Amino acid sequence: MACRHRSSTTTLARLAKPARLTPRLSTQPQVQSQVASAVRCFSSSRPSQLKETRCQQQGKFTSETYPELKRDSRYGQVTKEHVDYFKGLLGTESAVIDGVTNENATDDIEPFNSDWMRKYRGHCRLVLKPSSTEEVSKILKYCNDNKLAVVPQGGNTGLVGGSVPVFDEIVLNMGRMNNIHEFDEVSGILTVEAGAILEVVDQFLASKGYIFPLDLGAKGSCHIGGNLSTNAGGLRLLRYGSLHGTTLGIEAVLPDGTVVDDLCKLRKNNTGYDIKQLFIGSEGTIGVITKAVIQCPQRPKAQNVALFGLESYEAAQQAFREAKGHLSEILSAFELMDGGSQALVRQVTKKNSPLEGEYPFYCLIETSGSNSDHDGEKLQTFLEDVMEKGIVVDGTLAQDETQVRALWSWREGITEALGHLGGVYKYDVSIPLPEMYQLVEDTKARVREAGLLGDTDEHPVRAVVGYGHMGDANLHLNVSTRRYDERVEKCLEPFVYEWISKRQGSISAEHGLGLAKKKYIGYSRTPTMVGLMKQLKDLYDPNAILNPYKYI
Ligand code: FAD
Ligand code: MLT
Ligand code: ZN
Repeated sequence: MACRHRSSTTTLARLAKPARLTPRLSTQPQVQSQVASAVRCFSSSRPSQLKETRCQQQGKFTSETYPELKRDSRYGQVTKEHVDYFKGLLGTESAVIDGVTNENATDDIEPFNSDWMRKYRGHCRLVLKPSSTEEVSKILKYCNDNKLAVVPQGGNTGLVGGSVPVFDEIVLNMGRMNNIHEFDEVSGILTVEAGAILEVVDQFLASKGYIFPLDLGAKGSCHIGGNLSTNAGGLRLLRYGSLHGTTLGIEAVLPDGTVVDDLCKLRKNNTGYDIKQLFIGSEGTIGVITKAVIQCPQRPKAQNVALFGLESYEAAQQAFREAKGHLSEILSAFELMDGGSQALVRQVTKKNSPLEGEYPFYCLIETSGSNSDHDGEKLQTFLEDVMEKGIVVDGTLAQDETQVRALWSWREGITEALGHLGGVYKYDVSIPLPEMYQLVEDTKARVREAGLLGDTDEHPVRAVVGYGHMGDANLHLNVSTRRYDERVEKCLEPFVYEWISKRQGSISAEHGLGLAKKKYIGYSRTPTMVGLMKQLKDLYDPNAILNPYKYI
């Protein structure tokens, strides 16, 4: 079969199977949602064998890893009397996991104490699962009155240690508040409870011909409330923008139990300070989000995906520039993966790369539009152009839905592959594009010079890799280790943060601060800004009961 992407000097490798050069996702929303969910076949949304392996590892307690952290004596200890109050309030057995009066509950509580990376582990003995805003309000008021510290928790997929306790804070898990309240099929405006799982919400929207404006590898587990609280960026921010823009309204409960009802459904509303924005990205430190109103875009009828191999980071930048020029409004993702990250995915999945050769860099491009033929032509012209110019060495274009999923798995599978291989030190940074990848090179050199990087077991570091949302100038620098090791952390921090600060970058592009970056906020924010943040925290949470030891 002739390859229409063949140029005189380069070959666009093709995946085996179907003949269609311009793949089409079904226009049936149900089918599209199945595609979207199946794309996550190698992510936390699927209980894969890998995930089970990872979950078997038991991490050290955070208080042991960081002995300088001390429990704040202002907080009360949870007693039987407190537990009785919560049991009376929440009624059902399953709404309270009680390790205070029941010593046998430890195993049930463990998943709420440990984070996704198995890096942070708390000593919580009480998990509460409210089912309404009123219950959240009563819980927080009681905790505030009794100075009991609380950690709001969504799907617990956060990557900065923000979603689990450090000491004996109560976990307020939002999983039971998962209703979709209202959807307007004309405007695309959705009202949803905070504990709804992103993938479930997106599947509902698919059935209406709409899409949630956020997509990420953890979509099968993470909650809308968690997404808002971290201001998650994800894979298509390039296309749909940040949650600061797509969130029209929020309902949240303050630490004293006050319900802030700003469930506004208007796109335009310039009446006073936009209070809801403070809850977006504040990581559960000033209030608990209970509901949200989201502006959802129309679901694209056509989606095309291509994966390329490139010889240099310079070429990846050129490809991005060309992609914007050729694909403009239909470009929905431009993702970067270095050769090291792809080698780790190969090692873990034992799959063959979709390209014949191995390359130092790979880019994944996705287009989303309303006309498959039109989009396909544009993508094809783009491909021919970048190959003729020698920017892209080799590439492949998905030709059906299965191949779309397969190509995405090489990007989305990185996080889980890293988690499977042992410990990982994750840095999520935003740096102007020209210098972005240099951070990976410099970090690798530093770790190597320190004698920490190597192929054998005495070296804690297995690999230093980079990948991320190139379209948003957001790099994920990941140091993959055989085990968590204090020497590695000391080698990396504050080195990485200083490096970023010198280039006026952000030390947290999308994952947040949590516990991991609390003490480094000054590398990206001025003392005046940090001072204002502390004033806000004091104003909203004067007893500091919400998510202590974290953020600022
Ligand atoms: P949790 O992890 O439970 O909590 C995160 C923070 O929000 C905590 O501080 C918690 O206290 C707070 N919180 C949770 N719910 C509420 C609430 N209702 N009210 C107040 N505070 C609350 N992140 C990205 O930005 N982009 C990505 O592409 C991305 N991909 C990922 C891929 C994988 C495989 C994994 C494991 C993680 C990924 N993440 C990504 C990180 C993570 O999934 C996101 O931060 C997500 O938004 C967290 O949602 P959650 O429900 O799991 O929140
Ligand atoms: C991603 O883009 O894959 C996520 O932010 C998770 C990660 O950084 O590993
Ligand atoms: Zn990311």
